[in-house]
Amino acid sequence: MSEAELARIMDRMPYGLYIIGSKMSGDVNGMMADWVMQVSFLPRLVAVSLENDAHSLENIRCNRHFTVNFLSESEDGMALARHFAQPYFAAKVHGEKATGVHHKLAGVDYTLSPHGCPVLEGAFAWLECDMEDLVPLGDHTLAVGKVVDGGMRREEATLTSIFTGWNYSA
Ligand SMILES: Cc1cc2nc3c(=O)[nH]c(=O)nc-3n(C[C@H](O)[C@H](O)[C@H](O)COP(=O)(O)O)c2cc1C
Repeated sequence: MSEAELARIMDRMPYGLYIIGSKMSGDVNGMMADWVMQVSFLPRLVAVSLENDAHSLENIRCNRHFTVNFLSESEDGMALARHFAQPYFAAKVHGEKATGVHHKLAGVDYTLSPHGCPVLEGAFAWLECDMEDLVPLGDHTLAVGKVVDGGMRREEATLTSIFTGWNYSA
C-alpha cells in the first residue's frame, strides 16, 4: 500500500474539533486539536494527543491542567476554530529564524477555569482536566487527564472534521 493511499484512508477517520486551553505562569494558550477522546469511565479520563513540540504540551507538563473547549457545528464555530489553527511559536511555520509568538487568545473572549486555563465564551461546553499521565507516542505525546470540572452552557452539536472538511492525518 502506498503512503498516499494510506493517507486517504486515515482522512476517513472522523473527529470532533476542540480547543485545548493551557497556561504557563500568566501566559495562556489555545490550540486546535482533533485527536481528543474519553478513555475511561471510572475515573473519567480524557486523552489528547499533542505534537512533541507543541507549546501546549510544555504548558501541560508545567501546570498539569488543561481545558477542552467544545465548539458548535456552525459557521461561528468554524470561525472561532480558525483562530487556533496556528502554533504558538512563529518559527514552527515560518522557519527557525522566525521570532515571535502567536498570542492566539488576543481578541478572543474567555474566562479562566478554576486552575487558570482558558474557557472560551464561544464554547457551548467545556471540561477541565488534571493531568494524570504523559505518554510519549512517536511524534506525539498523549496527555491523559482526569475530568475535575466542566460546564454545559447550551445544547449544541459538536464541530467535527466531517463538517469542516479539515483533516489532520498527513
Ligand atoms: C484540523 C486540525 C487539527 C489538529 N489537531 C491537532 C491535534 O490533535 N494535536 C496536535 O498536537 N496538533 C493538532 N493540530 C495542530 C495544532 O493546532 C497546532 O498547530 C500545533 O499543535 C501547535 O500548537 P501550540 O504550539 O500552540 O500548542 C491540528 C491542526 C488542525 C488544522
